[in-house]
Amino acid sequence: MTKGSNQVAPGVQETVRQLRDEIAAHNHRYYVLDAPIISDAKYDELMVRLQALEQQHPDLIVPESPTQRVGGAPLAAFDSVRHAVPMRSLGNAFDPEDIHAFDKRVADTLRAAGMLGLDQTVQYTAECKFDGLAISLRYENGLLMQAATRGDGQVGEDVTSNIRTLRSVPLKLRGDFPEVLEVRGEVLMYRSDFDKLNQAQQARGEKIFVNPRNAAAGSLRQLDPRITAKRPLRFMAYGWGQIVGAQPQTQSDALAWFEQLGLPVNAERGLFQGASQLLEFYASMDQRRRALPFDIDGVVYKVNALDAQEVLGYVARAPRFAIAHKFPAQEETTLLTGIEVQVGRTGAITPVARLKPVFVGGVTVTNATLHNEDEIRRKDVRVGDTVIVRRAGDVIPEVVGPVIELRPAETQLFVMPSACPVCGSAVQRLEGEAISRCTGGLFCAAQRKQSLLHAAGRKALDIEGLGEKLIDQLVDSERIRSLADLFTLRVEELVLYDRMGRKSAENLIEAIDKVRSPSLGNLLFALGIRQVGETTARDLAQRFGSIEALMRADEEALLAVNDVGPVVAHSILQFFAEPHNREVVQALLDAGVQPTVEAAPVGRLVLSGKTLVLTGTLPTLTRDDATRRILAAGGKVSGSVSKKTSYVVAGEEAGSKLTKAQDLGVAILDEAGLIALLKSGQ
Ligand code: IVH
Repeated sequence: MTKGSNQVAPGVQETVRQLRDEIAAHNHRYYVLDAPIISDAKYDELMVRLQALEQQHPDLIVPESPTQRVGGAPLAAFDSVRHAVPMRSLGNAFDPEDIHAFDKRVADTLRAAGMLGLDQTVQYTAECKFDGLAISLRYENGLLMQAATRGDGQVGEDVTSNIRTLRSVPLKLRGDFPEVLEVRGEVLMYRSDFDKLNQAQQARGEKIFVNPRNAAAGSLRQLDPRITAKRPLRFMAYGWGQIVGAQPQTQSDALAWFEQLGLPVNAERGLFQGASQLLEFYASMDQRRRALPFDIDGVVYKVNALDAQEVLGYVARAPRFAIAHKFPAQEETTLLTGIEVQVGRTGAITPVARLKPVFVGGVTVTNATLHNEDEIRRKDVRVGDTVIVRRAGDVIPEVVGPVIELRPAETQLFVMPSACPVCGSAVQRLEGEAISRCTGGLFCAAQRKQSLLHAAGRKALDIEGLGEKLIDQLVDSERIRSLADLFTLRVEELVLYDRMGRKSAENLIEAIDKVRSPSLGNLLFALGIRQVGETTARDLAQRFGSIEALMRADEEALLAVNDVGPVVAHSILQFFAEPHNREVVQALLDAGVQPTVEAAPVGRLVLSGKTLVLTGTLPTLTRDDATRRILAAGGKVSGSVSKKTSYVVAGEEAGSKLTKAQDLGVAILDEAGLIALLKSGQ
């Protein structure tokens, strides 16, 4: 018996032991089984109770107590650790041929050694290739004694104090542990944790991390474990170094055993026969990788039988029995050769990075958006920098950030131009806005092109065959200065433009003729008045009945329209106060464009005076369909639920709006209910 425990009542000792086991069990449930059963608050409560008891009885404190995860003073530097068994890396494969060749090499060797029959295929495990940092954890008699980074494979850095702060790393193994176990695996950060961390870093004005891997690396390399403790790092086991006192026979058994010992092992793994099954696993993980909570950069195949692994052995630093099959990189570095600006329909000026062509995410990328001036400052990207470019899935490529270590002495900071590069008008950035805009309006060719593209779009006039290339030519040749000029085009002149055959020209003129009597709502939307979306355009059309009446409307009349507030009203007034815009409208009317207004509703409509909110996915109706039908029945559609809401129409995966409706006692309909209601008025 120790000196301390002499003075401690046996009951206390038992309570402390129970609390520790309970806390370890909750950690295990949360981090290993991914099935927590208590709230964070309850967990904290257990910790506080344990801390209090340990404070009263310091002699009971042991290193494996969960209260001892964060401790010790900041280090001056990390000590070096020589690995008992070297930490190797893996050879990389990118193509199916590489995997067939790997499988053939393995099979040939095993057959030559008499370990595989002629008609047999090799059994492999396939696992995720976690995109983090390799780590080796040394347990002696079940207790975590040391944690080391990979380093050069022979000698790494002692990061024990930091690793102890990871709640997914057990301080004590469960069950049937061996005398010595060096577990190897990856330290990583979940994407959701990474996003939260970066938000917090930004709020505190601290360093933003470019990706979860860098955040994990930066967090693990802190000399002060109290900082690491605040970073949401996790551990995932996939292998081992030294084991004394047990000998697994296969990779799959070893991982299953690690799970029994309380170590986190990812469930996305399996046993496969031969190359073709491995390639199926690869394809399925490539599909599912975005749904995983963490980044993976490929999958790893390992010969399952350990005696076969031994026969295959190593070549240089990599094993012959395992290979990493990488996904096409989603991030690459390349040179930022320039930053240019693009002018959008509303004059918004977007800086665009010009890049030395780089193959990333399966395509060659030469441009990437930089969003706005503040974003460039925040990321501190400069022309001349080597930057990280990311293209994940179908998302548009973006510049993640510079590689500061590679920054040359001479770089250029981006300066937002004071004049529009297309029309020379002043560039303005309003107080409180992130976006700078060209003030040239429709005088600016770039804005004109984008406005025409918008007007021709499906939700506006829907003119088939009027694409970007033709609009560029029509605007550049000054044949089209405004939307109205579109209606004066003739086949004979169109055929003179590049890539315009007679047939396409005729089709285009026919398409334009078809929209000479557009609905007033569509025409108003096509004008591209800022703040006026499709629905508002339709409401304005219903309310005013003609474009002339709308142009005469004052603020009060505008504010009377559904969903029109001061900002929208102001924008409409400003648009029509601009002589150029009035001229365009007049020219449209002169060119024979005759907007039509849907017949004003007759009699009492079933939904008149009612406001509906749509939420979730309806089984057959699209959002647009449902909206149209509600509007046609005299109802209004709103985006948020309040006491004034008449009905909430809820589909699958309805979220907070449905909950709010239930809270407020608002009537809830499903699609069938909505249709029945609409029919009741017919
Ligand atoms: S096994 C002897 N399995 O990839 C083989 N490594 O390029 C040792 N990695 O340094 C590695 N996931 O950091 C193995 N399921 C996995 C892995 C994995 C990620 C990392 C590890 C290693 C690097 C090799």
